[in-house]
Amino acid sequence: MNLQFHDYHPQSDDLRQCVMTGFAGSPKQLPPKFFYDEEGSRLFAQICEQPEYYVPAVERSIFETHAADIMRSLALDGRTLIEPGAGCGRKVRFLLDRASAAMYVPMDISAEHLRSSAQRLAADYPHLPIHAVCVDHTQPFTLPDEIPVAGRIFFYPGSSLGNFSPVEAIGFLSDLRNKAGAQGRLLIGIDTKKSVEVLNRAYNDAAGVTAAFNLNLLRRIRQELAAEVQLDGFSHHAFYNEPRGRIEMHLVSRRDQCVRVADRRFEFKAGESIHTENSYKYSPQEFQELAWEAGWDSDKVWLDPLHYFSVHLLKARKG
Ligand SMILES: C[S@@+](CC[C@H](N)C(=O)[O-])C[C@H]1O[C@@H](n2cnc3c(N)ncnc32)[C@H](O)[C@@H]1O
Repeated sequence: MNLQFHDYHPQSDDLRQCVMTGFAGSPKQLPPKFFYDEEGSRLFAQICEQPEYYVPAVERSIFETHAADIMRSLALDGRTLIEPGAGCGRKVRFLLDRASAAMYVPMDISAEHLRSSAQRLAADYPHLPIHAVCVDHTQPFTLPDEIPVAGRIFFYPGSSLGNFSPVEAIGFLSDLRNKAGAQGRLLIGIDTKKSVEVLNRAYNDAAGVTAAFNLNLLRRIRQELAAEVQLDGFSHHAFYNEPRGRIEMHLVSRRDQCVRVADRRFEFKAGESIHTENSYKYSPQEFQELAWEAGWDSDKVWLDPLHYFSVHLLKARKG
């Protein structure tokens, strides 16, 4: 098999430290990267099948409608394709099926999920060298030496960039710009601003999968940190914060209660929340301005007819 696995996995005390700091703060918060243990990754795949969560279907429709133009503009043949937060590796197949990439580099924080998806891809694309990199891309990291610097193309679909604040997003995109080199490109999916009703429905699916995904964070904390926390003591709350242009996801305490982690006790008042995720939405122009700040020039943008989602091709700005 043409597959190598590089494990730069975050230290095991990362979750403990973030919980200790995040539960002690006001408001209480946790970074969304901890959603993605094995169960969280499985639940995210299920979210992508919910009818209310339009992102995967609309993004896919943009790729299908504009396939020829996207592939021509991307010019992937003979180049290295690098995908941060690659997840189950489903979306990249669209690109790999239509061009001869020289190498594919899926990156993800979720080790087992990454390993199994990379193995499936290696079996289906036996001639494609694959370097899977388990890494927390919110921390400084270096790509393995085997990844050629010339001809790097980054692929970041699904509007995962929305989980960063705009300032963090510029930092992350600048890092990709530096890693991409002078001829670098970035193909990125960005969710747009739209009606509050559509957005609120998308993060509150009727089957309760997004709620289960959010609550899974507490199960993970209970399991990995031996924390004393009642899962039925919290409920899922997600809403579009229009002035800030972002979906906010929270776990709201149903009652006054105490959560114990190691030797620390954290008091929760009824109605107090743990802020678990933001998902920023950008108009195409807002995103192009943000990308410009990070050293990327806009090359092309594709949208669906309702302008629910955008796919941008960016080129590294010279100098
Ligand atoms: C919202 S999912 C998107 C998955 C896929 N790219 C898609 O578009 O459907 C985010 C993915 O990024 C990974 N991820 C989240 N935070 C990460 C981090 N800090 N470093 C590396 N991977 C991360 C998760 O494990 C998950 O696979």
